[in-house]
Amino acid sequence: LVKRRDLDRHGLQQRYASGELPWPVGSEDWERAAAEVLPPGVFDWIAGGAGEELTLRANREAFRRRRLRPRMLTGAGHPSTAVDIAGTRCPAPFLLAPIGGQGLAHPEGELATARAAAALEVPMIVSTAASHAMEDIAAQMKGRPAWYQLYWISDKEVTQSFIARALNSGYEAIVLTVDSPVVGWRDRDRRNDYIPFLEGDGIAQYASDPVFRSRLPQSPDRDPAAAGAAVVRMFPNLALSWDDLAWLRDRVPVPLFVKGILRGDDALRARAAGFDGFIVSNHGGRQLDGAIASLDALVEVRAAVGDDAVVLVDGGIRRGPDVVKALALGADAVLVGRPYLYGLAVGGGAGVERVLGVLLEEIHHTFALMGLGSPADIEPSLVAPPP
Ligand SMILES: Cc1cc2nc3c(=O)[nH]c(=O)nc-3n(C[C@H](O)[C@H](O)[C@H](O)COP(=O)(O)O)c2cc1C
Repeated sequence: LVKRRDLDRHGLQQRYASGELPWPVGSEDWERAAAEVLPPGVFDWIAGGAGEELTLRANREAFRRRRLRPRMLTGAGHPSTAVDIAGTRCPAPFLLAPIGGQGLAHPEGELATARAAAALEVPMIVSTAASHAMEDIAAQMKGRPAWYQLYWISDKEVTQSFIARALNSGYEAIVLTVDSPVVGWRDRDRRNDYIPFLEGDGIAQYASDPVFRSRLPQSPDRDPAAAGAAVVRMFPNLALSWDDLAWLRDRVPVPLFVKGILRGDDALRARAAGFDGFIVSNHGGRQLDGAIASLDALVEVRAAVGDDAVVLVDGGIRRGPDVVKALALGADAVLVGRPYLYGLAVGGGAGVERVLGVLLEEIHHTFALMGLGSPADIEPSLVAPPP
């Protein structure tokens, strides 16, 4: 099995980034190109979902099932797509979803993604499972907005250190991911016998953390595999409950989001625990297989929390029309996941910039075809009820 060691084994990344090969066009083309560039085990780790991949597919099917009802001759003029989410300006209603282990897709990993996001002013959410330390990623953002995604692992002092570092590095919001008390049951990774963390990938937040380092007999640089094994041991946190969250709220003076909510009653619990915003997500189908499509859950969550709450959604967002559908069903903005990682895999930072640039244009184009002047014009009647 070819795992990560032969990254860009055909030299394709280089040929795309240099302009020798033309960029892929649609999101499906980017995925195919990424499959050619990446070692199979790495591609499977990124593209795959849990179990039978029912939820992975359901996310896309939920978008396919719903069709748009555009308005003609609205005279809306040149659309403006920008939105403000909890004080963070987005040029269009999307942010980059937190994705760990980006060094597997390209040697520059999150550093290249951060530069591309900053260049287009698209906010990025940086993962606890990143391949680069959060301070180094923040430095690449050059003051452009970024949020930090927290895993609350079973070692509370390490978790607390992550929070303090994120706040010190200027991250403007904290996103607590709650759908991963354990890592999902992923057939592709089992088949490939591939767990990136055990090879020392995706553990940079830990390896750069003084509290985590104090737990190890040897420094992570000398023994990355042992550090990875320690991460895998401390990751599961099955005892965490809503009652614990006051501790987090007390330590986070910036907006606090919860990611991984799939039910209205859980959104209400999150609100009672002091969260400022909700991200409806099933982790791109990577956690509980059989879970509801996030677009379907969005409707229930929005109904529960009311019009004023900040609600985001992710899972299966690939194109401009998907963004309009999600907003019509109640989201204020969306997170985009795998598409930008395929951009990174295919062409490094230039690939991410291309994917984001095309998505910005496509959203603009969709607004024009829908007769929309701005996101404020989006309302439920723009989507037909599913057949
Ligand atoms: C390779 C990969 C790694 C991910 N790592 C994280 C992570 O570290 N933290 C997190 O909250 N979500 C993580 N996610 C989930 C994404 O934030 C997001 O919910 C998902 O990718 C959205 O689905 P989409 O890829 O279909 O757009 C990851 C997703 C992928 C594909």
